[in-house]
Formats: sequence, C-alpha cells, structure tokens
Amino acid sequence: MKTTEETTTAGGGDVRLTGISKTYGDFTAVHPLDLTVPEGSFFALLGASGCGKTTTLRMIAGLEEPTAGTVHLGDQDVTALPPYKRPVNTVFQSYALFPHLDIYENVAFGLRRRGIKSVKKQVEEMLELVQLGEQARKKPHQLSGGQQQRVAVARALINHPKVLLLDEPLGALDLKLRRQMQLELKRIQTEVGITFVHVTHDQEEAMTMADCVAVMNAGRVEQLGTPADLYENPRTTFVANFLGTSNFIEAEVDSTSGDDIVLKAGGGKLVLHRARASAPATTGGKILAGVRPEKISLTHADDAGEIPEGRNRITGRITESSFIGVSTQFVVDSPVCSDFEVYVQNIDRDPRLAPGAEVVLHWNPAHTFGLDAAQDIDAGAETVEEEVA
Ligand SMILES: Nc1ncnc2c1ncn2[C@@H]1O[C@H](COP(=O)(O)OP(=O)(O)OP(=O)(O)O)[C@@H](O)[C@H]1O
Ligand SMILES: [Mg+2]
Repeated sequence: MKTTEETTTAGGGDVRLTGISKTYGDFTAVHPLDLTVPEGSFFALLGASGCGKTTTLRMIAGLEEPTAGTVHLGDQDVTALPPYKRPVNTVFQSYALFPHLDIYENVAFGLRRRGIKSVKKQVEEMLELVQLGEQARKKPHQLSGGQQQRVAVARALINHPKVLLLDEPLGALDLKLRRQMQLELKRIQTEVGITFVHVTHDQEEAMTMADCVAVMNAGRVEQLGTPADLYENPRTTFVANFLGTSNFIEAEVDSTSGDDIVLKAGGGKLVLHRARASAPATTGGKILAGVRPEKISLTHADDAGEIPEGRNRITGRITESSFIGVSTQFVVDSPVCSDFEVYVQNIDRDPRLAPGAEVVLHWNPAHTFGLDAAQDIDAGAETVEEEVA
C-alpha cells in the first residue's frame, strides 16, 4: 500500500507509454506502442481476446515488466518503480473483496493499512460516491454482483490514485447489470475526475463509456479516437467491422473530379469524397467503399424514379428482413455485395419491402468511406462472432 507522500507525487495523471512492448520467448504480445492517455479522461483499450489488453494494463500498473520502452505518469518515469510505488490502482474482473470484512471495512482497508486512524469521513464519502451508504454493514456475499463491483471501485479510489486501471471489471455481470454499471462507472469517473483506463472486449461498452478508445488487434493499436470518430471514420476493415457493422464494395477508381472520387462497381458508379478516403485513389486502382447500414435508404424498385439525384445507388433483392422494434434490419443481395445490411427506422413501413422484393439502396455520397483494398474485408467480423459464440 502507498504512503500519502507516494500517492501525491508531482506530475499529472496522464499516462504516457513510449515504445513499450512485451515479448514472451519468440511471441510478441504487445508490439512497440506509443500511447498517451490524457489526464482526467475515460480511456478504453478495446480488442478481442488475446490482443494484448491485459498485458498493456499490467505494464502500466507495474505488474509486468516491459521488454522495451517506458511508462510515464505525468512527469514521472515510473518504468522502474514497483507497483505499490506507482500512483495507480487496479480493479480486476474478479474483484476479490475480503469476505469476512463488511463493506465499510473493505473500503477502509487501504487507509488502515497506511496506519490512518480516522477513516470515517473518507469511507463515508466513498460509500456515498458509489451509492452504497445503506449497505455499509453488510458482508460482500449479501450484495449483488454490481454492488460488489462498486465496493471494489471504492476500495481502489480511497487510495486517491492518479490513475485507475480497470480490467474487464464488468465481465462477470449479466447484460442488464453491465449496462447499469457502465453508466454508474462513467458517473463516478466524471465526479472524481481522475484518469480511468478501462479494458474491455465489448465494443458497445467502450463506446458508451470512453472519451477515447484505442482499438487493439494482435498486439498493436489499430486506431485511436473518440467513439464517434472511430465509428464514422474507420481506417481499417478491422475497425470498421469490430465497431458495429460495415458494408464493403470492392470498387475501381474511375476518375477524380475536384473533391470527388468516382468509383466503378458492378457496372454502376459511386461517389466517394476525397477527404473520406484513407487510401490513395489513383485511376484504375482498387478501393474498398464502405457504408454503414443505418446510412442507407431502401426504395422499392417500382419507385426508383422518386430517388433524388446525386445519391449513391445500387440495385438488389431483399433476402432477409428482421423486425426488431425501432428498426427493421434487411439483408440485400446485390451485384456488388452479396449480403448488404440495411437498417431502416420504423416510421412509415412499406409493406412491399419483404424478402424477394427488388429494391434500390441509396445513400448520401458523404456517408461513403474509402479503405485500402489490400485488406481482408472480413477482418474483425469473425472475431466478434467468436466472442458471441
Ligand atoms: N505469461 C505469459 N506467457 C506467455 N504468453 C503470455 C503470457 N501472458 C500473456 N500471454 C499471451 O499474450 C497475449 C496477450 O495476452 P493478454 O492477456 O494481454 O490478452 P487480452 O487482450 O487481455 O485478452 P483477454 O480479452 O482474453 O483477457 C495472449 O496471446 C497470451 O496468450
Ligand atoms: Mg485480458
């Protein structure tokens, strides 16, 4: 446990990783990585199982020695410091509360270890922060999973770390409780204002909670950004598929005109805005044109004449339709992509839009993004299915 001096060392609460890597024998779990987590942010490390999230977190905590590189917390190089000397606390998936101590004593533990006698005010504040004041005298087994997780957070925060590391802290909870706890953790972070680094393989969880997300794949950070930026401007197929669903059309660059790139696909033309192409577009070259399912409108082929000019359009036939309340999710077979996904909000439902119907899919060209065609179109998509299975 830390002493007060150690927990209030100079420097801010930003985390700076420089060229940090970890190899086990000839296996590289984390490739040299540069990453800055701004002070006070809620930062998520997102990726599939085995991509190196826990290893990265453990190197920040000092529980794992990096093979190369440095870890800074604020101005301080902590690479050589043991875990207990770092102003960092970790909350794990198995929150391992002390079963024989009540909630109050579990939270007070860190203070008592440091020989602090008058713990009442701080413990009460912490219990209030995690909304467990009423439960103070219960034992851990008398609490729900979500309540126990909040005790674990309070137990860590009472040490006033500069940075709180959370490794899949909600992994053991059922879906509904997870959703509640996501909001709860977000509220706590906003209230205390310290840096949270949260590890998860759940893209929705990362998007809901974090200000900034680093998407990891096979020991590398594939892309870093705000949830909205990653969703709207994925730069790789992995990110495009791992965060939500993307449709891809393999297209050829036909010509460029001003800010527009004109693409050829399946005998038709599509427009991609140059600013949204993350791969070079040279005439005759290939590019993957991506579009998210909710950006697309579906019009029955009989009404194709009503579609406004200037929209990207392709034709197809509906093969599947699932009504899910707020929207209907369609799968459309088209010459450019055999399983185009389209989500249509249920406002005025067109009963003709059913399996077998010939349709036109159309969208604003601004919603097209362009990726390097030399990538696996399905990268990231299979991984998500494996997780679910
Ligand atoms: N002590 C070790 N010795 C050898 N290989 C290891 C060791 N620890 C981790 N690895 C390997 O390093 C890779 C990254 O592991 P890590 O625990 O960081 O993954 P993760 O992203 O946290 O995965 P998960 O979501 O399953 O927790 C994995 O392939 C793992 O098998
Ligand atoms: Mg892990």
